[in-house]
Amino acid sequence: MGGMKRQTKVIAVANQKGGVGKTTTVVNLAAALAQMRKTVLVIDLDPQANATSGLGLTPTPGASLYAALTGGAFIGDIIQGTPYENVNIIPSELDLSGAEIEIARQENHLRVVRDLLAPVLTADVYDFILIDCPPSLGILMTSSLAAANGVVVAMQCEYYAMEGLRVITDVIRRLRENGANPEIHLEGILMTMYDSRTNLSEEVVQEVRKHFGALVYKTVIPRNIRISEAPSFGQPVIAYDPSSKGAQAYVALAKEFAARARRATPAEQ
Ligand SMILES: Nc1ncnc2c1ncn2[C@@H]1O[C@H](COP(=O)(O)OP(=O)(O)O)[C@@H](O)[C@H]1O
Ligand SMILES: [Mg+2]
Repeated sequence: MGGMKRQTKVIAVANQKGGVGKTTTVVNLAAALAQMRKTVLVIDLDPQANATSGLGLTPTPGASLYAALTGGAFIGDIIQGTPYENVNIIPSELDLSGAEIEIARQENHLRVVRDLLAPVLTADVYDFILIDCPPSLGILMTSSLAAANGVVVAMQCEYYAMEGLRVITDVIRRLRENGANPEIHLEGILMTMYDSRTNLSEEVVQEVRKHFGALVYKTVIPRNIRISEAPSFGQPVIAYDPSSKGAQAYVALAKEFAARARRATPAEQ
């Protein structure tokens, strides 16, 4: 591959379950990658707009991917800066809840997000595009997975986590096999909200590692109060309290994530 070419990697952070740490991971991974001088575009695809507010922006009507989905706006015009150098965002707001219906109305709806992103990929100004997926298996999520190179599954260290994992790995396999996205792969599994005071967290991590081996990131995100406080200040935890265990974990994850994402061949499923 040519010397200066970045080759933007599009990574969706997904899990059809809510409250497992997807948004926290997108916000903090973006901020930590940016500190490593990587350029990152966050796409907030959850109408709840938690990634938008978590990066210090106020959700604003008309400022979401919906404006581009309905044909009114060019993708380049809906990308905004954030208070964090090297982090841009396509924000979200409540309008985006109409996106499911809008995409469903369009022909070839699995291609909708991929087609929208094409000019951004051609411009090749980002090292990473991180998509914060909504907690559902709707068209918006499958359409964004169809646009992604890889998927990071965020998983809370709790019982039944494995079952949810099977659902999403099935979706990934189907997208690959039906030709919607022949190269999509499971990029990694991130264990979140690890509680070192209980055996349960450790048991769940071991169980997931037993099945998915090296696909599970070595970095495990601890349950950490600073992580849960940071969003109410509109900050990633690595800005809010850089010395906290939570911040340190996301810095470690960013290093591991970047090293893995640079590999030529996708990981085995
Ligand atoms: N490692 C963690 N430690 C403590 N609280 C966390 C941690 N990760 C996420 N949270 C909190 O848990 C809630 C759900 O996390 P979030 O990232 O919004 O999940 P999702 O996007 O999957 O719905 C949020 O209030 C968030 O601040
Ligand atoms: Mg979320």
